[in-house]
Formats: sequence, structure tokens, C-alpha cells
Amino acid sequence: MDDRMIPFVDPEVGQKEAEAVWEVVTSKNLVEGKYTRSFEAKFAKYAQVKHAIACNNGTTALHLAMEASPLKPGDEVITTPFTFIATSNSILFTGAVPKFIDVDTNTWNLDPEKIEEAITERTKAIMPVHIFGLAADMKAINDIAEDRDLFVIEDAAQAHGARIDGQHVGGFGDVATFSLYVTKNLVAGEGGVVTTNNDELAETLVSLKNHGRTLKGGYKHVRVGYNFRLADVSGAIADVQMDKIEDLVKARAANAEYYRKIVDEIEGIDYQHVPSGFTHGNYIFGIDTRQSSLTPAEAVAKLKEFRVLARPIYATLSYQQESFKDLSNWRWSQFVNYPDYNQIQLPIAEAIGINHFEVPVVPSLTVEEREVVGQALIDVFS
Ligand SMILES: Cc1ncc(COP(=O)(O)O)c(C=O)c1O
Repeated sequence: MDDRMIPFVDPEVGQKEAEAVWEVVTSKNLVEGKYTRSFEAKFAKYAQVKHAIACNNGTTALHLAMEASPLKPGDEVITTPFTFIATSNSILFTGAVPKFIDVDTNTWNLDPEKIEEAITERTKAIMPVHIFGLAADMKAINDIAEDRDLFVIEDAAQAHGARIDGQHVGGFGDVATFSLYVTKNLVAGEGGVVTTNNDELAETLVSLKNHGRTLKGGYKHVRVGYNFRLADVSGAIADVQMDKIEDLVKARAANAEYYRKIVDEIEGIDYQHVPSGFTHGNYIFGIDTRQSSLTPAEAVAKLKEFRVLARPIYATLSYQQESFKDLSNWRWSQFVNYPDYNQIQLPIAEAIGINHFEVPVVPSLTVEEREVVGQALIDVFS
């Protein structure tokens, strides 16, 4: 470990996860079962929600949330373009229309002040993303949603451990989704969770992820559904991870806090500002180079010389992706009018997109390693 390249992905899996996986394998109950049920109960408690429904990844979690929502084809969903593509793809899956608005310059999250002006008679939902693990301003978003009768879907894929005034994300919206992908604060390899406090919605979600069956199972199908079930091998990993989630999140927080103090002393770079009362989940520690003469690519190359692996992430915003340039081949375009996404310009998101990169904040970092990262930032940017 002495002089490893310092990684930005390093899942905390080991003996306990291996034992749980072994138990699943030897039990031969490989489908969603005992461990997945246990994981769901622990996750619901942790996220302070009534229902946590496991599924096979964060994208299918979003797909389920969209499918269970009251949206119709052509309805608009206000969302952020500064995110992983799964956010807007999930809106497209069900024939809804992503309506991108700009982000807040300090938090890099959906700017609630820009929501009102984006609302049309077609707007039916808001999908905020808690980007990099920092919660979007859910109180402001919920106020608007209540006022304008909009459905709220939180994309909390990156936000295990994120809180506002002590309340964990996942229970602010009508429904919320998490990812358990290998990079995340809590991993299953592949996996996802949908959370809600709404009993009826929970029942629909469980049915939708299991071929539209009733909760009794069997071969009665009451709606068109999918197979988005989680394999119990993945459920077992996630279940073990739940026993250490507090420690994993704390370790990330300590690393992030250390970097914030260092970055505070370096002219020209910055980080996501954490509003008062918000607890950052610290999935990613993003460095903002908008005021620096170094580009992210230059900084990443230099940091590598110091053993630090860093990378730019969403330099290409969702609406700038090739897939959004021409949606005419997308099946719903026969029925739905999409805006010309080539015309969209959101200056703050665009500037953050091309002027940020991540540095390693993973729980496995030793104190020495995070000092190496901190010193490398000083050397590269001073
Ligand atoms: C914001 C966001 N939404 C959705 C997803 C999709 O999750 P998954 O990769 O588990 O399908 C991700 C995954 O990285 C994500 O970061």
C-alpha cells in the first residue's frame, strides 16, 4: 500500500462480504431473498423512510420511479444537466421530456430560483440530483412542487449519508433512488434502491420490479412490469455494507474536511459549498478550477506525477451528449415533441462542467495518502 497510486475508486469489501456471499451461494437461494430483505430494512432505517425497495441498479431504480409516477408521455420533468446520463435517460424511458435548468454556482445543484420560470402547463415533475453527495435544496424545491402540484423524484444515486437538518435524503421527494454501483458510498457491485414514504407507491414499485406481480408472487400479473430484482449475492454485499455505512461516510467526511482546509488556502481553486444545516455525503470531492489558469486536464496530468489519480467527470453535460443532439431515432419521438437540445445554453453548469475534477476521497485513504493529495494540490496550483 506504501506507494500505490492513490485511487478515487476503492470499494470497502472484504472478509465479511465474502462470507455473506458464500452463505448465499451455499444456500442455493440465489434470487432476491433473506439478505436483500435484511438490507432493505436496514436501508429504510438509515435513510429514515418507510419503504426501501431494492432493485438491480440505480438506473432501474430511476426507471421504476418514473414508471410509478403519474407522468404521461410528453410531460416535462425539470432537472439538472450536471449529472450522470442515467438521470435524463430515465426521464426519456417513459416518454417524458427532460427540461434542463441551470445549477447554483456554489452548490452545483439544481437552482430552485430557476424552477419557476421553467414551469409550463406541461411540467409535471422535478427531478433534482444530490450531486456528488450534496443534497439539493429540497425545502425550496418541495415548496414549489407543493405550490404547483408537481411530483418530486430525488436522484440520490450518489448521496448515501447526505442530510438536511439531520434528515437523510430519500424521504424529501415523493420517491427517491439510490445506486449501489461499485464506486458509491455503499456498494453491491451493481444494485439500486427506491425509497418512499407512500405505501401505495411502494406496493406499485415492488410489483413493477417483479413483472407486475401482486405482492403474493405467483403467476398473476396485474400490470405490465419488468424484472429489476436484485440478486441475493448483491443483496448480501449491500447488507454487510449497511453495518459499516456510518464509518464509511465518516471516513469520507474526514478526508473531505481535510481537503477543504487545504483548498481554502490555495488561490484560484474552490469546492462545492455546503449550505448551513446540510451534511455532505462526500461521494466525490470536486475541485472547481473556474478561477484557475490550469485546466482540469493539466491538473490531472500533474497530480499523477504525485501518485494522485484524479479525473474530470461531467465535462459534457447531459444535453450536450451526442444522444441528445438528435432524438429522432428515439422511439418516443414519434409521439412526443422534444425541444431542440442543441439550442440550450446553461452558463453556470457549462462552466462548472468543463472546470472541475475529482480527487480521491475514498474511505481507504490513509492519513499519509490524504496528506500526499493535499500537498500535491498545493504544489500543482501554487
Ligand atoms: C446521479 C446518478 N444517477 C443515476 C445513476 C445510475 O446508477 P447505476 O450506475 O447504479 O445504474 C448514477 C450512477 O453513477 C448516478 O451517478
